[in-house]
Formats: sequence, C-alpha cells, structure tokens
Amino acid sequence: MLLDRRIHFLFPVALVFILVVGIVRIVLDDLKSNKSFIFGSYGKPEEHKNRKPIFISPKDRFEEGCNVFEGQWMWDNVSYPLYTEESCPYLVKQTTCLRNGRPDSFYQNWRWQPNTCKLPRFDPLKLLGILRGKRLMFIGDSVQRGQFESMVCLVQSVIPDGKKYLYRVPPMKIFKAEEYNASIEYYWAPFMVESISDHATNHTVHKRLVNLDSIAKHGKSWEGVDYLVFESYIWWMYKPLINATYGSPDNIQEFKVPAAYKLALETWANWIKSNINPHTQKVFFMSMSPTHLWSWEWKPGSEGTCFNESYPIQDPYWGTGSNLEIMAMVGNLLQELEINITLLNITQLSEYRKDAHTTIYGERKGKLLTKEQKSDPKTFGDCIHWCLPGVPDTWNEILYAYLLQKYQNYF
Ligand SMILES: *[C@@H]1O[C@H](CO)[C@@H](O)[C@H](O)[C@H]1NC(C)=O
Ligand SMILES: *[C@@H]1O[C@H](CO)[C@@H](O)[C@H](O)[C@H]1NC(C)=O
Ligand SMILES: *[C@@H]1O[C@H](CO)[C@@H](O)[C@H](O)[C@H]1NC(C)=O
Ligand SMILES: *[C@@H]1O[C@H](CO)[C@@H](O)[C@H](O)[C@H]1NC(C)=O
Ligand SMILES: *[C@@H]1O[C@H](CO)[C@@H](O)[C@H](O)[C@H]1NC(C)=O
Ligand SMILES: *[C@@H]1O[C@H](CO)[C@@H](O)[C@H](O)[C@H]1NC(C)=O
Ligand SMILES: *[C@@H]1O[C@H](CO)[C@@H](O)[C@H](O)[C@H]1NC(C)=O
Repeated sequence: MLLDRRIHFLFPVALVFILVVGIVRIVLDDLKSNKSFIFGSYGKPEEHKNRKPIFISPKDRFEEGCNVFEGQWMWDNVSYPLYTEESCPYLVKQTTCLRNGRPDSFYQNWRWQPNTCKLPRFDPLKLLGILRGKRLMFIGDSVQRGQFESMVCLVQSVIPDGKKYLYRVPPMKIFKAEEYNASIEYYWAPFMVESISDHATNHTVHKRLVNLDSIAKHGKSWEGVDYLVFESYIWWMYKPLINATYGSPDNIQEFKVPAAYKLALETWANWIKSNINPHTQKVFFMSMSPTHLWSWEWKPGSEGTCFNESYPIQDPYWGTGSNLEIMAMVGNLLQELEINITLLNITQLSEYRKDAHTTIYGERKGKLLTKEQKSDPKTFGDCIHWCLPGVPDTWNEILYAYLLQKYQNYF
C-alpha cells in the first residue's frame, strides 16, 4: 500500500463512522418503505409507443477530444446552485448542510470549467427525453447514494407533483417520472461484488467479508438496465488487508486490498462481458471520491480536518487517500475490456473541494449531531460525504454531458 502509517491508523476511525451512518440510514429507509410503497403504487406507466426526438444542438456537445476532467472551479453564484435544499423534497437529512446549521453556503456556488471546452448547461427536460422508457441505475456505496440523490434533485423540479414517486425496495431506491416512464435508481452494493455487507438492514460494521468471485445475485437486479453507473472504493480502504473468499466459499483468507480489489474488478468485468449489450446499454464507472480527513495535506503544519474549510484548494493537489495503484488498475482493466465503458474520472476535480463535505452538518447514527458532538469536529466531522447541492451535482452534469454526447436521435 502507498499509504503511510498515520493514514492506516486514521482510516478506520473515519470508516466506522460512515459505516454506522450507512446502516442506520438504510434501517430508517426501510422503516419508511411500507408507507412510501403504498404511495408508490402509481398504476401502470403510460404507453409511449412513439419516442419523441429530443433536439440536441451543437452547444449540447463538448468538443471531441476535450478532457472535461481537467479544469478549474469558477465562482458562479448566478447559475449555481442548480437547485436548493428547499426546492428538492427528496434530499435526506444527511446531506442538507445548511438546514443542519452550516453557517456558510459558498460551497454551493462553484462551477466546474474544463480547460479546453464548455460543459453543456444541465437541462432536466432533455435528460428526461433521453431517459424516456429507460432506466438509469447508480450502483455502489453511500457516496454513490449521494450522487443518486443529486440526480433526482436535478430532474425532479420539471415534473409536476403526482407524476413523480420515490420508493424503496431494499437494497434499492427508485425514483419514477411517470409521464416519461423513466426511472432513476440506486442499488446498494458497497463492494460491487457480493459481501456480508449487502443486506440492506443487517450488516456488521467491523467485520467484513467479501466474496471476490460472486456477483450473480446482484447482477440479477442490473440486467437489462439501459444506463449503469458503478462505483466502489471507500469500503475497501479500512485496513491494508481484507478478509475475502475466492474460489471456495469456505476458504476465507486475508488479501492485500489492491489484490482483492483487482479480483473483484475482474469478476465485475466478466459480468459486464456476458450481460451487457453494447448497442442498447451504456456503462459508466465513477473513479474514487476523495476524502479530506487531514488538513496537514493541504495546509502543512495544521492538525485539523475538512471542518471550517470554506474555499476550494487552488494549487495542484492530490490527497494520499486516493490510491493511485487502484486508479491505475481500474484504468487498465477498462482499457482491456472489449465493451466500451466510460470512466468518469472525477477524483481530481473533487480533490480540490475540501470545502464541500458535510463535516458536523450531517448525521451520525441516523441523527443530527448533538451540541457536544458538534464541538468536537475532529472526532465527529464527516470528511467523506458531500453536502447537497454540491460536488455530486457536477459529477452528474458530466454524466449528463456524456449521455448527450452519445445520444442518437431515433426516428
Ligand atoms: C455574488 O458574488 C459576488 C462576488 O463575490 C458578490 O458581490 C455578490 O453579492 C454575490 N451575489 C449574491 C446574490 O450572493
Ligand atoms: C417502460 O419502461 C420500461 C423500462 O424501464 C420498459 O421495459 C417498458 O416497456 C416501458 N413501458 C412502456 C409502456 O413504454
Ligand atoms: C443478522 O445477520 C446475522 C448473520 O448473518 C444473523 O445471525 C441474524 O439473525 C440477523 N439478524 C436479523 C435481525 O435478521
Ligand atoms: C479476518 O478475520 C479474522 C477472523 O474473524 C480476524 O481475526 C482478522 O482480524 C480479520 N482480518 C482483517 C484484515 O480484518
Ligand atoms: C474557522 O476559521 C476561521 C478563519 O479561517 C477562524 O477564525 C476560526 O477560529 C475557525 N473556527 C474554528 C472553530 O476552528
Ligand atoms: C484520472 O485522473 C487523474 C488526474 O488527472 C490521473 O492521474 C489518472 O491517471 C486518471 N485515471 C485514469 C484511469 O486515467
Ligand atoms: C469504443 O468507443 C470508441 C470511441 O468512442 C469507438 O471508436 C470504438 O469503435 C468503440 N468500440 C466498440 C467496441 O464499441
């Protein structure tokens, strides 16, 4: 591992924290699910025999060859945020930092500007046009759930009440836009492959056991989905070693994390090869979402966390939490696959955003922090998850740009 001793020691602290949040969140989601399920019995989707073409102008596409992941954050309090905490009824408490007491809102006012081209302006109607009669699914851990929620918030404002529904079928959350027969979905699979952490309500915090060669059970729920967006990183990074099985389900062994991650990726790649039809389905892979646990990384000599950070990092910056060995592994594997998969390499642009995490304005064990906990940001601050509106909106603007890029009007 490239990580130093201090990082090995600190990672578990942060991870126990997010895992507990993850579990309680899902328990709560599950409790609510009965009620929202009734609400979600929305009747048969309307017929959409004729797909309506959507108008894509040259401005909607970025220039071929432009690397949209290289650029800078520009102050833009005119166009951003793209929605507000109040305007999106689907935001969960974990991400509504302002409502939870965060005093500054600058983190909502930055626009990502690629160096050599422009990203198209996010247009929810165009996205719904693309998603007409289709499913978009986000698969991964709680960071990925944040991206799912961001996407729901980005599109939901153009859909009238009564024509949109959010409901839960653990381990999934599903948002439906009835008039478009479109769905945006989230599937909890923190390791992508199977593990003892997959149960929506009952999984252990400290014990983890990953089945590196098993994915079929998850895969059943992913079959036939039109747009799949995968992500898996932080759950692997608990210790330098991880307990896993490979080959025989009874033979539990400790694997070095990069080795285990590689085997899991290969299992996933095999699933992709035998289940994806590249003519009708598109697959995206999110690169790792960075953490900002130690302020000495961007402010040498300091001892804090991402708490009380109000501005992005301006200088070139790459945190030690973002493992380059795993990054390279993902890059190589995707290159070798005969099916085109788009890597959304959002790590660098998110690395700059030390200001955008939930810190003490999120949840711990399913509850907002107490006054005492808030006074101890070093222990209780969350520098892994992101406030919404915020950085995950930019990931979705980029995903949207790629969907437009590839979209062929169908008459
Ligand atoms: C937007 O930012 C500019 C420059 O910092 C500031 O002068 C202006 O008051 C801000 N506008 C709003 C609506 O916050
Ligand atoms: C609605 O969308 C689903 C895919 O999400 C598709 O299988 C189904 O055929 C669509 N229904 C209609 C009536 O278009
Ligand atoms: C949770 O899982 C463990 C082991 O998988 C099992 O023994 C236990 O009965 C489960 N608890 C509940 C409440 O389902
Ligand atoms: C693997 O599991 C064993 C038995 O439960 C445990 O003692 C060991 O600490 C685990 N290793 C890791 C890296 O978690
Ligand atoms: C937050 O930062 C400001 C200036 O950067 C400083 O004056 C203040 O004491 C800090 N607050 C805490 C609680 O660290
Ligand atoms: C993703 O971007 C980073 C920073 O620009 C770069 O170092 C890395 O190699 C890229 N990853 C892949 C797989 O291309
Ligand atoms: C993959 O994408 C590239 C560039 O978009 C294209 O040239 C190539 O034909 C695609 N390959 C397959 C197998 O679809």
